[in-house]
Amino acid sequence: MKWYKIPDVEPTKEPFIKKVKAGGKNICLVGYEGKIYAMASSCPHAGYDLSEGLCAKGKIVCPYHRYTYELATGKGGEGQNDFLETYAIDIRGEEIYVGIKSFWDKVLGRK
Ligand code: FES
Repeated sequence: MKWYKIPDVEPTKEPFIKKVKAGGKNICLVGYEGKIYAMASSCPHAGYDLSEGLCAKGKIVCPYHRYTYELATGKGGEGQNDFLETYAIDIRGEEIYVGIKSFWDKVLGRK
């Protein structure tokens, strides 16, 4: 897994949703109930930008058709049969890092 520093975003306990770029990917960075989560910014349903959505009950809600995905796991809501890719977060002092696995990391089960 490779770690990427997210520029211009500091850790906070305040809620937020922000689209950032790391490792060539568009990432939706979410602050929710004091924790920070990272996930793909493109909705698996039809590609809408999840960073324009909202959070409720531990899930991000897509603003377009209201599909939901668990912030911690990316698991889609009941009946959706889909999932959202999520990424590891590491807080180092006042900096946020997102961990992105390569194709080979995933195939070989590397952390
Ligand atoms: S594009 Fe997100 S729910 Fe349809």
